[in-house]
Amino acid sequence: MNIGICTGGGDCPGLNAVIRAVTRHAILNHGMKVFGIECSINGIMTNPPAVRELKLSDVSGILHKGGTILGTSNAGSPFKSPESGAKAIANALANWNTLGLDCLIVVGGDGTQRMAVQLQDAGMPIVGIPKTIDNDYEPTDVSIGFMTAVEVASEAISRLHSTAEAHSRVMVAEVMGRDAGFIALHSGIASAANIILLPEIPFSYDAIIKAMESRRKRGRNFSVVVVAEGAHEIGCEPKFRSSSTGSVHLGGIADEVAREIHKRAGIDSRVTVLGHIQRGGSPAPLDRILATAFGVHAVDLVAAKKFGTVVGYRGGEITSIKYGDFANEARSLSLNDPFLMAAEAIGISLGR
Ligand code: F6P
Repeated sequence: MNIGICTGGGDCPGLNAVIRAVTRHAILNHGMKVFGIECSINGIMTNPPAVRELKLSDVSGILHKGGTILGTSNAGSPFKSPESGAKAIANALANWNTLGLDCLIVVGGDGTQRMAVQLQDAGMPIVGIPKTIDNDYEPTDVSIGFMTAVEVASEAISRLHSTAEAHSRVMVAEVMGRDAGFIALHSGIASAANIILLPEIPFSYDAIIKAMESRRKRGRNFSVVVVAEGAHEIGCEPKFRSSSTGSVHLGGIADEVAREIHKRAGIDSRVTVLGHIQRGGSPAPLDRILATAFGVHAVDLVAAKKFGTVVGYRGGEITSIKYGDFANEARSLSLNDPFLMAAEAIGISLGR
């Protein structure tokens, strides 16, 4: 069989690990040919296609590397208008036939996987692999990239405690996650944050100040607050800011939280925005391992012709699920999440 592989959406640590696993398993154990599709799913939709064959030597020495050797994009979808969508599908079909592809393995989050379904509906078999530092893709408990993002954020936030204590300040750290609080919750627990603000639980400044006051009464004159970029006050909308190109992104809530804490409680507050540091660099061991297992399982699904499925990690097992059998969308933290309940049980304030 001839299989394609692409990495789509925002990059994350572990993409090269999954490209390596797919390529090695496909060539060594299934005698397949592997084609790397460049710049997300776009590489198969352009004329000429941006495609190159991947040999074992191409994936040697890349396990630990951040980014993706195939490039990626999260700058919009060719399916935003019926005309551009039809052109993209026509190009993809022509390229598919020229290359003699049997299946495309799409490594991506919810946005990329929705585009993949459009290709599948047009007759191009797909197998999906979930990746996103936000961990907000429905068919898996853990996505490639999440554990590294949590590790990087935890390490950075842990370092805020000593400087917060030395100056009797509040340190507010803003982390990524779009509309989901997985990174904030997990890195907040792992870094002993005092307050964690999540998109799923609108917060009140009264509750935040109360939590700080109760710390002060115990002689703790400093606090560390982790705020997810999508978190917002009760009754308010999330905050956005513009990038250099004018595109609008979640961000800026940490500044507001620090300002309000100072205004309401008179405590000196400082802001740290971790940003793309959470997405860059070498994958943590658990992401290398997950990426390897996902890549191997995806190739086995292709070999068994179980197309139209997405691999996942659920209940301690590597699983697969059909695209139609789950909401192909971003998910949020459940309010019954055991880690969320554990955080509150040990006295971390969630601002409610
Ligand atoms: O989806 C991953 C993510 O890192 C989000 O947490 C963040 O909001 C977004 O991508 C930023 O993406 P970019 O700056 O690449 O557009």
